[in-house]
Amino acid sequence: MTEPNKIIIAIDGYSSTGKSTLAKHLAKEIGYVYVDTGAMYRAVAYHAMNQGFIKDNALNKQALISDLSNINLRFEYNTALGYAEIFLNDENVEGFIRSIEVSNKVSQVASISEVREKLVEQQQKMSLNKGIVMDGRDIGTVVFPDAELKLFMTASAEKRAHRRFKEMTDNGVDISYESVLENVTSRDHLDTTRADSPLVKAGDAIEIDNSDMTVDQTYAEAMKYVNKKIGEV
Ligand code: DC
Repeated sequence: MTEPNKIIIAIDGYSSTGKSTLAKHLAKEIGYVYVDTGAMYRAVAYHAMNQGFIKDNALNKQALISDLSNINLRFEYNTALGYAEIFLNDENVEGFIRSIEVSNKVSQVASISEVREKLVEQQQKMSLNKGIVMDGRDIGTVVFPDAELKLFMTASAEKRAHRRFKEMTDNGVDISYESVLENVTSRDHLDTTRADSPLVKAGDAIEIDNSDMTVDQTYAEAMKYVNKKIGEV
């Protein structure tokens, strides 16, 4: 039997729309590689915080840009977890990059063109054999404008904040719903208004609003488009 042709699946959208959960599930089901590009921007933000480039809420852009060559990111597949974890200079930082502190700083870091250039180049190299599901904000517009399938995820800010709040409190994080909502809306604003590669739906992307869908319903909806596209190539 011949192997079906592999495609690139680009999943973009607002924060906390379940992009990663969906992308991970799709990749597992169809045997593709999953790449979480948000984790890459988060790891750079975490590095900037550790190096003291962010003090009193102010980011020293030049210091971070000068230090970019010292930032080495790679993903390593964890068979027990079933997905790849991100390593920053050989340290597994998966456990640190989803904190509210990193979440509050990451959009600022992601607005720096030099940071984007470095990460986009690395992301484009990951697609050599296709068979990839990548999620982020600019995958269908900048990283893979020719991706065969582009999905754009949306949901109301309140629904997204509730999901993120539940996820964090389930993980023992002491946080208020209001501060999670504030983080969600301020990131929406920064991500959609930045000058370089703002979050925008690609003209040929399929929009999925999952405000009133469960995780399983979102997956089933996306899988319809995946099966259709894979059947066409
Ligand atoms: O998907 P996430 O919430 O983990 O992403 C973290 C931040 O990184 C998000 O606020 C915007 C930024 N980001 C980006 O600018 N481009 C990407 N391709 C992925 C994430």
